[in-house]
Amino acid sequence: MPQPIRWGICATGRMAGKFVKDFVHSSGGEITAVCSRQQEQADSFAAEFNIPHAFGSLDDLLASGKTDIVYLCSPHSAHYAQAMQCLSAGQHVLCEKPMTLRAADTKRLYAHARERQRFIMEAMWVRFLPGIARLKALLEQGEIGEVRQLNVDFGFSADVGTAHRLLNPELGGGAMLDVGIYPMFLAYFLFGKPVDVASLHCLTGTGVDAQSNIIMGYANGIQAHLLSALNCQLPNKVLISGATGFIEIPALWMHCREIRVQGHNRNGVTIPTGYDGAGWHFQVTHVNECLANNLINSPVYKPADSIALAEMMDELLEKWGIRYPVSS
Ligand SMILES: NC(=O)c1ccc[n+]([C@@H]2O[C@H](COP(=O)([O-])OP(=O)(O)OC[C@H]3O[C@@H](n4cnc5c(N)ncnc54)[C@H](OP(=O)(O)O)[C@@H]3O)[C@@H](O)[C@H]2O)c1
Repeated sequence: MPQPIRWGICATGRMAGKFVKDFVHSSGGEITAVCSRQQEQADSFAAEFNIPHAFGSLDDLLASGKTDIVYLCSPHSAHYAQAMQCLSAGQHVLCEKPMTLRAADTKRLYAHARERQRFIMEAMWVRFLPGIARLKALLEQGEIGEVRQLNVDFGFSADVGTAHRLLNPELGGGAMLDVGIYPMFLAYFLFGKPVDVASLHCLTGTGVDAQSNIIMGYANGIQAHLLSALNCQLPNKVLISGATGFIEIPALWMHCREIRVQGHNRNGVTIPTGYDGAGWHFQVTHVNECLANNLINSPVYKPADSIALAEMMDELLEKWGIRYPVSS
């Protein structure tokens, strides 16, 4: 039996807890350590989730030799420096979305990982859900005829103060980087890069995007309408229309537990695509398999995919006058 891959968790916020709870549904790894900016916080998180080692800084975790890979789930603005630090220390990295604030930084991270021969992947967990693969297969097999339109959204009313990471530009706040990245991912996964992009947005008082409407056009005539918001509750659904029918994924579409098809073969059929757990664990099993095979990149969610998403987001943010600092 191969040794389990030893995981360290960097930061102890909301996503860290969800990830650790879901980890039990994955295979090939174990969580051996956690770090926080405060030792007490790391101790308390370790006690809550039964993690053997707790550290009061990323430096201490990296020096401990207790991990093979670090899962970074800090605010967006911290990802780049922490990922660089982990790679330099010889660790592999799974980095929460968005990997960095700018495509240039994402490219630098992949280059650094390649130099160090370490694995790195953006945690685009939705890519690894069985339902999302099924959705693409349904479209490819012509279930709704030629695809013409995608409507996808993700958004909620962020009831937080201006210092919170969702609204604070210093922490990489804004709807695009936090939630808009998912609709962007789906459009890219299904259709690739668009040839035309139009958008409307509005800003928060802190100067990041509060909401946006994006329309993308593809060479084959497909149009995609993407909404993201931190200032209202969106339906969080997918609707794809084709020449002979349509497909819906009900809320929360990114967990994709069922797909509804109204097509020429299937009339009002619901295809169950459920699973145990919340869905973050599929990417963990995938990463463990990559590491067991000595891969430094995922062959499924490739560096080019993260970079393409980052470039599309860069272009929009630039157009909207939102400029995050480049990290190096
Ligand atoms: N995959 C998903 O479905 C999903 C869902 C939600 C969020 N996310 C992503 O997960 C990441 C974290 O989101 P979250 O909702 O967990 O945020 P959060 O609740 O604010 O937690 C972030 C944690 O990072 C640490 N931190 C705070 N400020 C920091 C700073 N300035 N520099 C370094 N570390 C800092 C803190 O942990 P310590 O006090 O322990 O250091 C904090 O608890 C983001 O990248 C977000 O986009 C992903």
